[in-house]
Amino acid sequence: MIHAIGIDIVEVGRIEDIINRWGIAFIQRIYTQEEIDYCACKARTSIHFAARFAAKEAFMKCLGDDLRHGVTMRHIAVVNNRNGIPVLKFHQGLADRLASRGIMTAHISISHTDNYATAMVILEKT
Ligand SMILES: CC(C)(COP(=O)(O)OP(=O)(O)OC[C@H]1O[C@@H](n2cnc3c(N)ncnc32)[C@H](O)[C@@H]1OP(=O)(O)O)[C@@H](O)C(=O)NCCC(=O)NCCS
Repeated sequence: MIHAIGIDIVEVGRIEDIINRWGIAFIQRIYTQEEIDYCACKARTSIHFAARFAAKEAFMKCLGDDLRHGVTMRHIAVVNNRNGIPVLKFHQGLADRLASRGIMTAHISISHTDNYATAMVILEKT
């Protein structure tokens, strides 16, 4: 059954400005190395960073205050499988916390234009 849904939209220009201002310090605070490597090989990296920012925020919306406590953006990663399909991957501690609540599956969908990136997350409970 569905435990929660979350959605977020991010202005690509906002993320671009933050990256231009804070550079690697911002990137390493928010994204995992796998995400950084994925975005780095894209033509306009900020679109993909923005999409991942939206994904993390959408996931955060799915968590109640209680579950959200102590979760950071780097605990959540978007990984694309060999077909390009995005999948959410969690830091072990967060995965364990989700599992303890019966939340075993997370679905994600991402879309972006030059100006906006959006993501939707659905958490499923067994
Ligand atoms: C995969 C597809 C749906 C992406 O759509 P798009 O409008 O180009 O791109 P969007 O901005 O909406 O979405 C991009 C995101 O979709 C996700 N994505 C990529 N391939 C995916 C797939 N096979 N399934 C689900 N999601 C996918 C990725 O997360 C990607 O963002 P990321 O690279 O930053 O992770 C599209 O390329 C496709 O293959 N469509 C199939 C139908 C088709 O061939 N139509 C053309 C008929 S002429």
